[in-house]
Amino acid sequence: MNAASAPAAFDVEALRARYPALTGERDGRRLVYLDSACTALKSRRMADALAAFYADFGGCGGKRSTHRLSHEVEERFHAARAATAAFLNADGPGEIVFTSGTTEAANLVARGFPYDDARRGVVITDLEHNAVALPFLEAARRGEIDLKICPSHDGRLDLNRLESLVTDKTALVAVTHASNVMGGVAPAAEAAKIARRKGARVFVDDAQFLGTHREDVATLGVDFVAFSAHKVGGPFGFGVLWGRENELHRLRPWKVGGGTVKDVTWDGGEALPEAVYLDAPARLEAGVPDFGGAVGLREALAEREELPAAAVRAHVAGLVRRTLAGLAKTSAVRVLGLAEDLEKGGLVSFVPTHPDFSVQDFNIYLNNELPGRFVAVRVGEHCAHLLHRRLGVSASVRASFGPYSTAAETDLYADAVASYAREACGG
Ligand SMILES: Cc1ncc(COP(=O)(O)O)c(C=O)c1O
Repeated sequence: MNAASAPAAFDVEALRARYPALTGERDGRRLVYLDSACTALKSRRMADALAAFYADFGGCGGKRSTHRLSHEVEERFHAARAATAAFLNADGPGEIVFTSGTTEAANLVARGFPYDDARRGVVITDLEHNAVALPFLEAARRGEIDLKICPSHDGRLDLNRLESLVTDKTALVAVTHASNVMGGVAPAAEAAKIARRKGARVFVDDAQFLGTHREDVATLGVDFVAFSAHKVGGPFGFGVLWGRENELHRLRPWKVGGGTVKDVTWDGGEALPEAVYLDAPARLEAGVPDFGGAVGLREALAEREELPAAAVRAHVAGLVRRTLAGLAKTSAVRVLGLAEDLEKGGLVSFVPTHPDFSVQDFNIYLNNELPGRFVAVRVGEHCAHLLHRRLGVSASVRASFGPYSTAAETDLYADAVASYAREACGG
């Protein structure tokens, strides 16, 4: 095997050195970051790219002003769109709508989709984050759509049930590609086949999936994919809606304003002026765009592309297995989901089984009681209220991993669960 065909090495320690948050201390404590499902840590390289953009450019982009500085800003904005399209293996930059995140992308699709009387059904799953569930719930409350919720069991989407819920009146099916609570990977491609057989369009939430996986929209077989920049190491408040070009053109703008129109016709009299909108994506991106967000996203995606994807997945799967083995030693907690599914994802959640195991106290324990360290995990309902209601639990504890997470960190966490359980529950 020559050097070119050897599997790429994945040096976790070298990767960690690029993340200043992992190397410093806070009040004498080192961070053990197990909250990458909430947001991925940001590298020095991404932060520098963002700062350099604001310091060196920061001028109005070319859709509005057309001076030299604005051309340079616009060039970077366009390069970010092209890089995002390439990252997703999309057909081209015309399929990329920049948004403020997955939430805005889901709101855009829920509000802008051209439902009609023949097709006004929407099916979502009980695994959806509120970012996706609530826009459709509110559309149903406004009487615009008929909403059905497909159940999951142990984190597995019930595809038979989905098949029965999707009819020839279904306009849209929305599925998360990876639940932010149950982990694993949802069968988005199979769900899409079910939906498309009935002529429905498919929206996929990739916010969690892209944390440790790569997406290929050319083969996924869906119509829309959304993700957030901050969950792949990019800046906060920025994100992407990918859509097939013809589907994006069909979306009604739900947010209108500057940058969206070819013209506004008006005779200056009493007749209402009329707006003539541009094609997508511009039509769907009202207001001055977040140019810096686009530059930061491009840098974060470039960093992701430099990592060997298969080695990252193998590494994260190993962390999930190790966490499961560690948690199995504590009878006071029950892991959500099935081990064989969980290792395909990047997180492990549990609920207490002992009445004296308080998730809130445990969180305080993780932050204050471990010598020289504090562990960042997420405790609560994780904006997944439908799922927690379905499970009948009020809160869960989630440890989630990024490419930079280590086995030592998962061991420390599992030991902390055991030692807290001994103190609080006596076993
Ligand atoms: C599965 C999933 N979808 C959507 C979102 C919403 O992302 P954002 O708040 O960046 O829009 C999240 C965030 O946690 C998520 O985990």
